[in-house]
Amino acid sequence: MEVTVLCAVVACLRLLPSRSQFFQYENVVLSCEGNSTEWRVRRNTSKQINELCPSYSIDSRCIFNNVYEHDSGVYWCESEAGERSNEVNITVTDGELILESPEHPVSEGENLTLHCRARTSFSSLTHFYKNEELIGSSSTGNFTIQSVSKSDEGLYKCNVSGLGESEERRLAVRGCSPQMPTAPVAYIVLPVVVCILLLFVLMLLCLFRNHKGRLDRSVSYTDVTISQEGKPQRISDVGSVPTLYSGVMPDSS
Ligand SMILES: *[C@@H]1O[C@H](CO)[C@@H](O)[C@H](O)[C@H]1NC(C)=O
Ligand SMILES: *[C@@H]1O[C@H](CO)[C@@H](O)[C@H](O)[C@H]1NC(C)=O
Ligand SMILES: *[C@@H]1O[C@H](CO)[C@@H](O)[C@H](O)[C@H]1NC(C)=O
Ligand SMILES: *[C@@H]1O[C@H](CO)[C@@H](O)[C@H](O)[C@H]1NC(C)=O
Ligand SMILES: *[C@@H]1O[C@H](CO)[C@@H](O)[C@H](O)[C@H]1NC(C)=O
Ligand SMILES: *[C@@H]1O[C@H](CO)[C@@H](O)[C@H](O)[C@H]1NC(C)=O
Repeated sequence: MEVTVLCAVVACLRLLPSRSQFFQYENVVLSCEGNSTEWRVRRNTSKQINELCPSYSIDSRCIFNNVYEHDSGVYWCESEAGERSNEVNITVTDGELILESPEHPVSEGENLTLHCRARTSFSSLTHFYKNEELIGSSSTGNFTIQSVSKSDEGLYKCNVSGLGESEERRLAVRGCSPQMPTAPVAYIVLPVVVCILLLFVLMLLCLFRNHKGRLDRSVSYTDVTISQEGKPQRISDVGSVPTLYSGVMPDSS
């Protein structure tokens, strides 16, 4: 679902096998879905910046017959016009374990299964960690997070005693859950309704004051003139506010 949304706008980078962590010497195929003749795979690794895929197949797919640790990095598809697809962080390890998780950000509400894959089979428990904290253990190598939410974002890894641990994998959660379509409506409609209501209330107040002002005008005018006459006299009597009147005093004396 989430991938098709990305592909509707630009191209989409697909990986085979469909994961983002690989063992050294694995075969990996990257392809740009969308317009394969125009889109090209590029990467940033520790050694290369903006490098074009070093080896293409006849059908324009990027082929690695062996991946090495130094192939770890950010991969994306780019058109000649400079348009970019989604980015995928690829990690190649020479360790015994990799953590399999979707290479694209998962959507809120999905059930997400992390799978700890070993180079060789094993029978001991797999431990899963989030931000260096143990979150669970499993005998199948799978760990499922039910109904993923934003709070599940973080760095995940797995560990099997005797084999070591996987590289860390960042989990990103997209906030576009099914209830999302109602949110923009609320953001637009609510302020508009509130503004219209406010305008209406202001109009009513103005009408009311205009009406009332016509009735009380004579009374309020006399009130104001009386109170203003009294003030200056009282201030000149009190000698404790010279700072306020220092500029005025020489003129009046
Ligand atoms: C694919 O790219 C070519 C070359 O830029 C272009 O002529 C063609 O229209 C594109 N096809 C699609 C389906 O976008
Ligand atoms: C690749 O690296 C260059 C230079 O650091 C940077 O400008 C560019 O944004 C990077 N591309 C991606 C997709 O991370
Ligand atoms: C890729 O890795 C870099 C550095 O660890 C990180 O800043 C970036 O958010 C990652 N991108 C994705 C799409 O996971
Ligand atoms: C997630 O898993 C639970 C329990 O297995 C299930 O009831 C629910 O339908 C699943 N949700 C999705 C979105 O697949
Ligand atoms: C573990 O998860 C993987 C990937 O989701 C799945 O293919 C496999 O059947 C699961 N294995 C078990 C024992 O649940
Ligand atoms: C793997 O987990 C075990 C048990 O939690 C721990 O004792 C061990 O140090 C961990 N191994 C690594 C390489 O982190």
